Amino acid sequence: MIIAIDGPAASGKGTLGKRLSEHFGFAHLDTGLLYRAVARVMLDREIDLADRDAAHQVALNLDVTDLDDPRLRGAQMGEAASVISGYQPVRDALLAFQRQFAAQPPGAVLDGRDIGTVVCPDADVKLFITAASEERARRRHLELQKRGERIVFETILEDIRRRDERDMNRSSAPLKPAADAIILDTTHLDADAAFQAALDLVRAKSGRA
Ligand code: CDP
Ligand code: CDP
Repeated sequence: MIIAIDGPAASGKGTLGKRLSEHFGFAHLDTGLLYRAVARVMLDREIDLADRDAAHQVALNLDVTDLDDPRLRGAQMGEAASVISGYQPVRDALLAFQRQFAAQPPGAVLDGRDIGTVVCPDADVKLFITAASEERARRRHLELQKRGERIVFETILEDIRRRDERDMNRSSAPLKPAADAIILDTTHLDADAAFQAALDLVRAKSGRA
């Protein structure tokens, strides 16, 4: 069984994906970490983010077992990830791993931008998680504060809006709900309530407890 979760920045995809995977005993992959990991190598080696060929090479040689580095979750990585994720060869290079991951028994939860549309178009359940950008910025602000990153709220809001704009308007795998995705607006739901709502939707759609 495959559960696909897509949505804009800081909508709660990762948090929800983790909880659903724990509930069902499935594996979980936050696919944003793959793009962030490519970005990290580019930044560490001081390679220009505009260098598509270099980004492609980095993606082809990415160590996908090394996604636990807390640095990946930083704001700078998210922004850089959004740039290199617009390159189709980078996306192609990361596709096989994501599909392999999704195919493992007894099931997998993948979250990102294009899981329901490109990576797993035949997923059993597709959720598209949204929330108002101010609410998402509030969540990311809290999260970054806890990590010790001091960034003013307005800057985070601007970053999120710019990134959403870029993710929605690119030609390669733009952020959009799959035709058969269920849209869940979590603006007024905390993480627990969002999990309960998503669980009800997955149960209704898949017949699983
Ligand atoms: O956590 P947040 O939603 O802020 O970001 P993320 O999911 O870690 O993704 C970082 C960037 O990677 C996004 O802005 C997208 O541009 C890109 N991404 C993508 O293109 N496709 C995916 N399946 C996942 C992420
Ligand atoms: O993966 P994505 O960027 O979509 O979001 P996330 O990394 O899961 O983070 C969202 C943050 O908002 C986390 O700190 C959550 O505790 C919090 N949150 C949430 O995930 N879901 C809600 N409905 C409300 C808050």
